[in-house]
Amino acid sequence: MKVLVIGSGGREHALAWKLKQSEGVEEVLVAPGNAGTALEPGVRNIDVAGEDIGVLLEIAKVEGVGFTVVGPEAPLVAGVCDLFNANDMPCFGPSAQAAQLEGSKDFSKEFLVRNDIPTAAYETFSDLDKAKAYIRAQGAPIVVKADGLAAGKGVVVATSEEQALAAVEDMLSRSVFGEAGATVVIEEFLSGEEASFICLCDGTTAVPFASSQDHKAIFEGDKGPNTGGMGAYSPAPVIDDALHERIMAEIIEPTLAGMAADGIPYVGFLYAGLMISAEGDPRVIEFNCRFGDPEAQPVMMRLQSDLLAACQAALAGELAHFNLSFDPRVALGVVMAAGGYPGSYKTGDPISGLHKDLLDTKVFHAGTCLEEDQVVTNGGRVLCVVGMGETVANARARAYERIELIGWRDRYFRKDIGYRALERD
Ligand code: AMP
Ligand code: GLY
Repeated sequence: MKVLVIGSGGREHALAWKLKQSEGVEEVLVAPGNAGTALEPGVRNIDVAGEDIGVLLEIAKVEGVGFTVVGPEAPLVAGVCDLFNANDMPCFGPSAQAAQLEGSKDFSKEFLVRNDIPTAAYETFSDLDKAKAYIRAQGAPIVVKADGLAAGKGVVVATSEEQALAAVEDMLSRSVFGEAGATVVIEEFLSGEEASFICLCDGTTAVPFASSQDHKAIFEGDKGPNTGGMGAYSPAPVIDDALHERIMAEIIEPTLAGMAADGIPYVGFLYAGLMISAEGDPRVIEFNCRFGDPEAQPVMMRLQSDLLAACQAALAGELAHFNLSFDPRVALGVVMAAGGYPGSYKTGDPISGLHKDLLDTKVFHAGTCLEEDQVVTNGGRVLCVVGMGETVANARARAYERIELIGWRDRYFRKDIGYRALERD
C-alpha cells in the first residue's frame, strides 16, 4: 500500500519513517516533506503544500494512495479529512469541526468548562475595553491567547498587567494576528510542570501513546521566548501510573464522551497539553488536534506497534481492545535550530556530518531541503537528534554525541534538554 503523510516538519519525518516500517507499506509519500524524508529509504516527497487540500486529494487519487495521515493542524482545521473521507480516500485525523478543539481556544475552553474537565478559569472577549477592564480586575500574572491559529505565537504569558494590556491591544486593536486574534481568551495563570499526553482516538475510545515532555523556550533553564519546541523526551517522569489513570479518567475520557455527545466524535491524534500542579493535579492548558512536534520524534522512536494498523483501527472505530506497545527505554530528542530562531535566521547553509551514524540515535529533519545533493538549512528548527538509552542520562548523552558530528554555520541548540527528568531520575 502507498501511504501519504501531509506536512514538512520533524514530526512528519518521524511519522513517515515509522509508517514505512508498517506491514504492507510499499512506499510513503510526504507532501511536501523535507530533505530527511527525501533521503529516507522507501519515502518520496511530493511537491504540494499541506494547505492545498484539493490538489492533495487529486494527487492522492492519481498515486493510488491507500491511507493518509495528517501532521499539522492547518489542513485539519481546513477540513482535509472531511474532503478525503467523503471521496473514499481513508484519511486519519479529526474532522474540521472536531479540530476546533485546537482551532478555537474559545471553543475548547467552553467545551472543557461545560464538561467539568479541569482547566484554567477564563473569559472570552472581542471588545478591547472589556478585555482591559477584566485584566485590571484580575491582575497579573495572567495569560492572553488569540482565539484562532497563530502558528504557536498567539499566547502571551504576562507577568505584569502592562504586558497583558499590551497583548490585548496588539490582538484586538492592532490585529497583529489578523482574524485569529479578533477574539481573545484571557485565562488564569497556572503554575506547575507541563507534560504532553497524546492519544490515538476512534470517536469513543482513546489509546494513549507514551507520555512526553517538551521544552518550549529558546534558552537553557526554559528561559526566553517560546518556540515550536527545542527538544522533547519520553516518558515524562512527572506522569506516574496513578496520574496516568487520573488523566485518562478526568480529562481524556470525558473529552471523547463530550465530543461524541455534541455530535462531533473525535477521531485522530488528540494532544492534551497539561499543567501538573505542585499538588499533582492535572489541568488542561490546551488541546492540539495532531501529534506534537518535537514529541513525535522521541515517541515514534519508542513505538513498537504497527503505526499504520493503529491508525487504520482508529479510523474504523475499532480501538476498544487495542493497545500500543513501547520500548521501555528513554528517548530524548534535541532540536538543532538556525541561529536567531525564533526571530529572524538564515537559510541555505550546507549541513555537514549527517552521514555519520551512531548506535541508538536517529536524526529527524525539519527545516531542511536538498540543493543538488547537498542538504541545506531551510527553516528555524532544522533537525531533531534523538538518542535512546536505559536512563535519561544515557539517552541524552547519545543525542549530544550525535549532535557533535553535525555542523553548519550558526547552529544553535539547548544543552540542557531533559534536565527536569534528569533531576527526578
Ligand atoms: P498554548 O499555545 O495554549 O499551548 O500555550 C503555549 C504555552 O504557554 C504553554 O505551553 C504554556 O507554557 C504557556 N501557557 C499557556 N496557558 C497557560 C496558563 N494558563 N498558565 C501558564 N502557562 C500557560
Ligand atoms: N511541542 C508542542 C506542540 O506540538 O504543540
